[in-house]
Amino acid sequence: MKVLLTGATGYIGSAVTEHLAAAGHHVVALTRSADPQPGRAWHAQLVGDTADPASLAGAVTPEIEAVIHLAPPSGDADVDTAVIEALATPLRGTGRPFVYTSGVWVLGATGDAREVGEQAPTNPIDIVGYRPRIEQRVLAEVAEGVRAVVVRPGIVYGRGGGIPAILVDRARSQGMPEYYGEQDVRWPTVHVDDLAELFVAAIERAEAGTVWHGVGDSAVPVRDLARAAGRAAGVLAAPRAIPVDQAAHVFGPLFADALALDQSVSGAAARATLGWRPDRPGPVAELVSGSYRPVEVFGAPDGPQTDAEVAAIRRLVAEVEHAQQNELVDRFLGVFRQEDPVWTTAHGERLSGFEDIATFTRKVLPGAAAESTAVYDVERVLFLRPDIAAVNLRQQPVRHDGTRIADRPEGRPLYILAKDHGTWRIAAAQNTVAIA
Ligand SMILES: NC(=O)c1ccc[n+]([C@@H]2O[C@H](COP(=O)([O-])OP(=O)(O)OC[C@H]3O[C@@H](n4cnc5c(N)ncnc54)[C@H](OP(=O)(O)O)[C@@H]3O)[C@@H](O)[C@H]2O)c1
Repeated sequence: MKVLLTGATGYIGSAVTEHLAAAGHHVVALTRSADPQPGRAWHAQLVGDTADPASLAGAVTPEIEAVIHLAPPSGDADVDTAVIEALATPLRGTGRPFVYTSGVWVLGATGDAREVGEQAPTNPIDIVGYRPRIEQRVLAEVAEGVRAVVVRPGIVYGRGGGIPAILVDRARSQGMPEYYGEQDVRWPTVHVDDLAELFVAAIERAEAGTVWHGVGDSAVPVRDLARAAGRAAGVLAAPRAIPVDQAAHVFGPLFADALALDQSVSGAAARATLGWRPDRPGPVAELVSGSYRPVEVFGAPDGPQTDAEVAAIRRLVAEVEHAQQNELVDRFLGVFRQEDPVWTTAHGERLSGFEDIATFTRKVLPGAAAESTAVYDVERVLFLRPDIAAVNLRQQPVRHDGTRIADRPEGRPLYILAKDHGTWRIAAAQNTVAIA
């Protein structure tokens, strides 16, 4: 389909562009600036500003087969209504899809309900007080022969962006991870690439008049996100709860209320009906060892193939950490190559061969995490060959609550990894104590 996309330069719009193009659609991007944007998978670029609805006249030509409207509303009811009319009127009588982007904040606090679905009444918080009216205005286009659809994303994460990036920035600047409001606040979340796939599914298959929650995880404790954001920022400390009135000084009262909103929202309907499969790593994993903590990469070209290899290497290191923190001997041994691996400990003891490593692990791992443990972060990957990598790590001693043990030195392990039959494993590893 030829798809007009507003908000195409934005966080969500960038991912939607890529997934539309990958699914064989042609993106016509509506942008405020006429500057060309090299590298975007756009078929064409049109200039328009949703603050000036007249500038949208003519954007939806007869060749446009679908509209995805991602540019944010202005909050001025007349302007926002005029924007919907400018984009939807040319589709009348065609049965073509018009997908409007709202958000889960229109549901308000969800209280004790386990997971709120699309049939729940709206109860918007102030920052999106006008949005249910826009949703209704969009859905009214069904009567005019438009396949009008509303998508309500949860808190979007991934690609190092979105609101979780604010948590990372704040942890870095404050030297302490923080979250806002009560300590048991939960956010419904969605990975930006999973969400982009939902937009593709919506134009391809959503029926007229439907509303979909774009939610991968229905209720993620924000305290966990804050702790993970601290890790992404290199701040291993217990997250601090900031009261909403204090947060309002930083973010303004409306956004502070939104950050403190407790919600549990179901994305089950889109899975069941549209066949949506949100399967990217969850927000905590993404913060701890994904896009929020970039790794220096050498010896391989930039691109999705290298990204996938680095992600697989990070998963291997996460497995080392998990096995060590939970004293799981077999899983720890599973990270090593069977053929002649070598491991030199931080104390200089060289374990040569799988049997030596297994004997040592069985002796020292049980009980090793009784009082404290360690976290491992990948800092540098050098691909010596596509299937051989030298990986520099940072190992930090932590308590069980993830806080740094200040008087214990860090480690600087180096792993040589080999990829056999599609799986990265440790061929050789050596740790060095970092004496600051
Ligand atoms: N991020 C989330 O967690 C989340 C969650 C739920 C709902 N949403 C909603 O999803 C939509 C997209 O969010 P996002 O996170 O991708 O936002 P974003 O990164 O700020 O991107 C906004 C996009 O809209 C464009 N835009 C802004 N004002 C415009 C105007 N007056 N006319 C035309 N285009 C304009 C921007 O273009 P320029 O390049 O010209 O600035 C940019 O492409 C928004 O409606 C947002 O409320 C977001």
